[in-house]
Amino acid sequence: MGRAANEDFENQVINGTSEVHVTEGTLSLKELSVNGSSPGVNVFTDAKLVSSKAVEVTFGDSSTWLFHSSWLLDACRAQLDQGNNRNATLSAVTAHYFNGGKEISTEATEVSLTESKAGLKVTWEGGFGDTFSHAFLRSYAPIVGKCISEEQPEYFTHNPLNAEFQNDLWDRDTLDLPIFQWDDLKSEGEQYEKLCHAVVNPGVALVRGLPEDEGATGEIVTNAMFNWFGKMMQHPERDTNHWLISTMDYSKGGNSQGYDLENVKKNPAYNTDLRLLNHTDQVSYGGPGFLLAFHCVAGQGVNSICDGFKVAQVLREQYPNYFKMLTKPTSFGRRIAHYRQPIDQHVLEPVITLDSYGNVMRVRYNEILRGPIPVPFEDFEEYYAATKKFVELCNADEYNVERTLEKGDLIIFNNWRAMHGRKSAAKGRIIVGGTIAMESFKSKMRLVFDKKADPETLKDRIGVPEAVLAHQMGRKELAIIR
Ligand SMILES: [Fe+2]
Repeated sequence: MGRAANEDFENQVINGTSEVHVTEGTLSLKELSVNGSSPGVNVFTDAKLVSSKAVEVTFGDSSTWLFHSSWLLDACRAQLDQGNNRNATLSAVTAHYFNGGKEISTEATEVSLTESKAGLKVTWEGGFGDTFSHAFLRSYAPIVGKCISEEQPEYFTHNPLNAEFQNDLWDRDTLDLPIFQWDDLKSEGEQYEKLCHAVVNPGVALVRGLPEDEGATGEIVTNAMFNWFGKMMQHPERDTNHWLISTMDYSKGGNSQGYDLENVKKNPAYNTDLRLLNHTDQVSYGGPGFLLAFHCVAGQGVNSICDGFKVAQVLREQYPNYFKMLTKPTSFGRRIAHYRQPIDQHVLEPVITLDSYGNVMRVRYNEILRGPIPVPFEDFEEYYAATKKFVELCNADEYNVERTLEKGDLIIFNNWRAMHGRKSAAKGRIIVGGTIAMESFKSKMRLVFDKKADPETLKDRIGVPEAVLAHQMGRKELAIIR
């Protein structure tokens, strides 16, 4: 919408001169692989105004819900301009700042179903109106509505934001490592979708048969990750988005800006003669990269892989006090003085981060970058014992899968979950890799799923939580990363 058109639109809304932006009879999401119901279930059967403040809606599954009229107006997609940005002058929350103190009324005056019954038209006082799709309102009903039908249907009676999605926890004996071929991932087909799932759950995937990266430029892994998941995160100091670890010349350690060789020699992250215990990357970042990928461009090495969520579950069940301790913040940090612009990072974050429902959301640990334990005197001994137990479990044979990575292999980890380490690296091994931020990954996944939705009605998807989308699209891994 151009500037002039946008102003007209605003005037219509503010002055109530006409009903605007009503699209009839569209179903914004191709429902719903998860409900398995007959087609009729995806249309409204009834809707009425209870009062100007509440709308009663009956869905195709016979469940009836109350919505606040003001919630509907606030969630109304017509409040978004065509660039999908919320336009403050169109919001009832802020309209009075832009319109001589005049409020937009949140009281509804009329509701009706579209001809196809797939849409619900709501008009508010002043003439502002919009149409909501069945899919959109049905997804939100358990979150924001009040169910007033006697029998609640099984489908979506629960709040999808609070749904228990089970990760498939794994150990040495149970990991079935998903393996992909480079040539099968050149387009966004079935193998690509499986890869998207695998990198979240089980949280590790191997791609084989990558082209040669002559000169170890990092170009192959950088471009592949960009195409599949988004741009690799920019290191605060390095010129490139990728790092490089070489058995032949660890002084290059991703950055040749005057490394102090004597210091680097002591660092198992770069000196491949040392064993590198299991860890997650970027522990000293506020938001560590969600995906970690590295491409073996020469030689071979043996990596260890451990399911951090499995270890967290073992702790929760067998050492509940330790589990509780590790959900309290400890400190991680690093100080690197030899960069052009030295860096000094420090965070207070837990080893085990829980989401607001108490589920394990992220594991963060790297002994090399661990700082002092900042817990009260009376908690310290237990916290220290918990840390030792966590390290012991992470590196125990029982919970570790060993995998030889060879030239042409690319391994991708869910860095919030899967921990990795190095058992050994043969002379001549070079790996190049980097990370993808959660925001980039989620954005890419939403865009991939948008391709399956009705393109004319994508407006209904703006702001929809991943957990709701996950239900709508049958992609539970999106809900896992909420
Ligand atoms: Fe690492």
